[in-house]
Amino acid sequence: MTSVLVTNIGELVTWDEERPVLHDAALVVERGIVTWIGDRTNAPDADAVRDVSGAAVIPGFVDSHTHLVFAGDRAAEFEARMAGRPYEAGGIRTTVAATRAATDEQLAANVARHVAAMRAQGTTTVEIKSGYGLTVRDEARSLAIARQATEETTFLGAHVVPEGAELASYVDLVTGPMLEACAPHARWIDVFCEDGAFGRDEAHTVLEAGQAAGLQPRVHANQLGPGPGVQLAAEVGAASADHCTHLDDADVAALADSGVVAGLLPGVEFSTRSPYPDARRLIDAGVTVALATDCNPGSSYTSSMPLCIALAVREMGMTPLEALWSATRGGAFSLRRDDVGHLAVGAKADLVVLDAPSHVHLAYRPGVPLTTPLAT
Ligand code: NIG
Ligand code: FE
Repeated sequence: MTSVLVTNIGELVTWDEERPVLHDAALVVERGIVTWIGDRTNAPDADAVRDVSGAAVIPGFVDSHTHLVFAGDRAAEFEARMAGRPYEAGGIRTTVAATRAATDEQLAANVARHVAAMRAQGTTTVEIKSGYGLTVRDEARSLAIARQATEETTFLGAHVVPEGAELASYVDLVTGPMLEACAPHARWIDVFCEDGAFGRDEAHTVLEAGQAAGLQPRVHANQLGPGPGVQLAAEVGAASADHCTHLDDADVAALADSGVVAGLLPGVEFSTRSPYPDARRLIDAGVTVALATDCNPGSSYTSSMPLCIALAVREMGMTPLEALWSATRGGAFSLRRDDVGHLAVGAKADLVVLDAPSHVHLAYRPGVPLTTPLAT
């Protein structure tokens, strides 16, 4: 069987510039690639037919920011936080200890379990960072394990300075032997630029070294307070500045002018009970916005893109359509991909069927499982 006609689509979100949303639509898939899109009544014949009974069909979510290679959890830290304790970057070290103690098989099983949960919730492309190893061996094996699940792997040796290490010598390690061992398994380099993690100069050194090794930069920026992360991202030509919770006007202008994608991660503000980033302000200023889960055991232990969409609509001033764009096409821009995050002839047929007549239900029915990836 070579071609499959998916038909009776009540609402088809494609992100085509002229007709981003079609009604009573159909599409044809051949060997995983979209070969035809249009009105149901004009659909060509195919070897097989899938009738979705009027449901909405969307491109699969592109989750452009996760930390899935870890062991253990931090439920006690979450519980204490809900009783009033603040979130601190230092909690990362708890997960580092658990991750170092885990076997490769345990880490790979955790990644596979989370990726499967993501897929069931409509995610078809995922980025995965290292950053809970923080030794040459543990960062390299984290990335090798991540690579089994995705091409979109990110070296985050500069997550925090590990217990017992000193800042300058740790930066030397990250930009020297650790980078050398990790670069073959990674596409991206990231740094947590924040008080309590890495300052502007160290972050710059890390990103430049990564670029020299052939990796493309992305930055954890302006998460816990104002800081230099967003400006640094613009300066080095990063693909994305993620978090973007505490921005001044110059930061917003830098994002708009540079084209750096602002990755908003509302699971973090939910789980740390913090003010949400202002998506409306960014969109109105012309910034490209991506939504991602940041799935990690400390600040955002959710693998659900629909939850992020619901939070973005309810708390961050996005329309349901904008939130869906940011969770699909915006994520693809963040990863500099044109083959995913939208549905067009030649793009990957990453189709997700909603148990709903329209994409609005993703935010309107929070917590309800509505997504089924369509195997063609
Ligand atoms: O994106 N900000 C830095 N890293 C993660 C948090 C990791 C953790 O708390 O374990 C984040 O929020
Ligand atoms: Fe993160």
